[in-house]
Amino acid sequence: MSRLLVCPPDFFGIEYEINPWMRLSNRVDHERAVLQWHGLMSVFENDLGVVLERMTPVAGLPDLAFTANAGVVVGRTAVVSRFRYPERQREEAHFEDWFRGHGYDVITLEKGQFFEGAGDLLGFPECWFGGYRQRSDIRVFPILSERFHREIIPLELIDSRFYHLDTCFCPLSGGELLYFHAAFDLYGQIAIAERIPNERRLSVPEDEALKFACNAVCVGKHVVLPSGCPTTERLLQARGYQTHSVPLDEFMKSGGSAKCLTLALD
Ligand code: ARG
Repeated sequence: MSRLLVCPPDFFGIEYEINPWMRLSNRVDHERAVLQWHGLMSVFENDLGVVLERMTPVAGLPDLAFTANAGVVVGRTAVVSRFRYPERQREEAHFEDWFRGHGYDVITLEKGQFFEGAGDLLGFPECWFGGYRQRSDIRVFPILSERFHREIIPLELIDSRFYHLDTCFCPLSGGELLYFHAAFDLYGQIAIAERIPNERRLSVPEDEALKFACNAVCVGKHVVLPSGCPTTERLLQARGYQTHSVPLDEFMKSGGSAKCLTLALD
């Protein structure tokens, strides 16, 4: 049984610009955003039987809905995020309270050790990958690697449109990787290829990467992804995954989609 942390988008909106997708002039249609969020939740709960833990939204924190950035959960331990931008640093205490209130052992990093949670740390059971430069700092990965006894391969994010690792990199339950190769430099592409053989890499075309095809949630043999990515859906279906596409364009205005709106709790 999968459990995901989510936060209703009651106060979601564009109130600042901290990534190339966000434009103050590109206002969110709030009613539409709420409907899209509930559509996504319905797929998780009703179609896939996922258990959703709902955080209480907070006025004045428009990005709290992106719970992928709460931190990262490993067993009963949670590492709380340290956001790069002051606009999102105000979320840290709320995520920390949630983890503490739900019985997690909480690890907090030092101030200035930027780490944006499951937005930038993803992987397979044995080998993890850490995206850095845009948001998280490469220096947190050795700390987490030692703490959790896992190898973490650092991947530099070279394109500011793909500013979190989860915008361009999605490990799947069968060991395959859905990714957009051009978001990484040659060194990163080679590091990925060394760990994941060619036949297990599913390469997303640029036009669909820009619709956040890689910002997908894999639950067993199901993949939930934003609508408008037919090539990606075919790639997944050819590997035996059942795809569930959900319109989430209101959240794209903030630079997020399906995966950003969830945090895996197990
Ligand atoms: N507006 C948010 C930000 O720029 C979007 C976060 C998306 N989250 C993610 N895991 N990619 O921080």
